[in-house]
Amino acid sequence: MKLTEQQLEQFDREGYLFLPNLFSAEEAAFLKGEAEAIYQMDRKEVWRETSGVARTAFAAHTYNEGFRRLGSHPRLIDPVEQLLDGKVYMHQYKVNAKAPFDGAVWQWHQDYGTWKRDDEMPEPRAMNISVFLDDVTAANGPLLFIPGSHKQGVVKAGHDLETTSYPLWTLDRETVTELAEQGGCVAPTGSAGSVLLFSSLLVHASPPNISPFGRTIVYLSLCETSNHIRAFNREEWIAHRDFTPIQALDDDCLQELLHEPA
Ligand code: SIN
Ligand code: MN
Repeated sequence: MKLTEQQLEQFDREGYLFLPNLFSAEEAAFLKGEAEAIYQMDRKEVWRETSGVARTAFAAHTYNEGFRRLGSHPRLIDPVEQLLDGKVYMHQYKVNAKAPFDGAVWQWHQDYGTWKRDDEMPEPRAMNISVFLDDVTAANGPLLFIPGSHKQGVVKAGHDLETTSYPLWTLDRETVTELAEQGGCVAPTGSAGSVLLFSSLLVHASPPNISPFGRTIVYLSLCETSNHIRAFNREEWIAHRDFTPIQALDDDCLQELLHEPA
């Protein structure tokens, strides 16, 4: 799958692209079931809110066949290779739930801010591509983006070890206000199976989910191979150290799994 000239221009201008229904409802429902099974597991890679509900399953592509295939899916790998102009490896893989009523906030941040400061990734030649496993609506805690904020480079940030379930380098309110006065603030929404890709420099946040509906999203953080991280400060299942270029599988790789006899 190749992005069009218009999509490339839009990504350059806004810092993100929304691709509705790139995966079928059946593919999304299958992966949602796999995510729920993972959240039941007692594994070090599954991080929880203080309430006990699961928030993030790291590295699910290393212990679940469906998520392994999704991590090499051509509908995700091809557009990112096109945008980063080279082969990519998996820097981080997260299956993020935001549980009904209890799903908590992640403060304003840039992902590259963390990858640079914690992992010594040389350049922002890395990005997120995410797949909605639930319908994401205005009600259930969609990501908030400041369009165009990726043009600002790495913005000043402080290390927040307290207010999210996961340590992040977060921006102060003054900086977020200034950026939003220029770019506004949007919350891309859409049905399960939709894909949202965004620059690793895009300023974004994740509001709490007070609705009775869950919101599960898978994030592949892909990095151009020569831009691999230089420091190994975080666990290898959070910031991966296997820099092997991903070889995309066939387009029907998930369909095949769905139709395998149990
Ligand atoms: C979320 O899934 O709620 C947060 C993801 C992110 O900020 O990268
Ligand atoms: Mn983020």
